Amino acid sequence: MSGNHALRTVPRPGDAPAGDLTGDDLVAAAARLARELLQDLHPRWEHTRAVAARAAAGAGAVAPDDRALLVAAAWLHDVGYAPALRVCGFHPIDGGDHLRRQGWSPLLAALVAHHSGARFVARVRDLGAALAAHDDPRAVQGPLADALTWADQTVSATGEVVDVEERLADVLRRHGPDSPNARCHHLRGPYVREAVRRTEERLRRPGGSVVLPPGGPRD
Ligand SMILES: [Fe+2]
Repeated sequence: MSGNHALRTVPRPGDAPAGDLTGDDLVAAAARLARELLQDLHPRWEHTRAVAARAAAGAGAVAPDDRALLVAAAWLHDVGYAPALRVCGFHPIDGGDHLRRQGWSPLLAALVAHHSGARFVARVRDLGAALAAHDDPRAVQGPLADALTWADQTVSATGEVVDVEERLADVLRRHGPDSPNARCHHLRGPYVREAVRRTEERLRRPGGSVVLPPGGPRD
């Protein structure tokens, strides 16, 4: 393939498939797609940028080969909120389905579909079968899934780094006492707290505090 490799961001027709991107190319493409889809949604865009930066700062919690994937998933985790992507109305599945259709790697799409304990909410919303299309155990448990949930659940809806308890309480406040989130909070809450605890434990290990640049677009 010809063309300037360093300038490749979101894949275009004739370019390398998104699923073939790795490392900095993958992160840059993810950041650019997130910007295209979310930059006009506020404060979703501010939250997304902060989650990507948080994931980059916490990338030492996952294996070196998984660090770019973690940061790319952080950029893309909320793209399902983009109105153009809305199908079932549950943003993790709408985002994951879109990425799969667009040729991004199945694991990246599954990380987006499962982020932050989406499986508990999907069950309450009767969307378990739709989520089953993203059946990859690494997106559900383990360091990668934990670190993505940690990044999302320690950043507020407006982009500030916050304690996980504050984040969980804010979600319940915003979604309301009868919401699907509230109805599965007894399951999702402990999962999120444990994912955060495990990630912070991994980051405290020797060599765990690697800080990567988020690789995102600059204003
Ligand atoms: Fe998020």
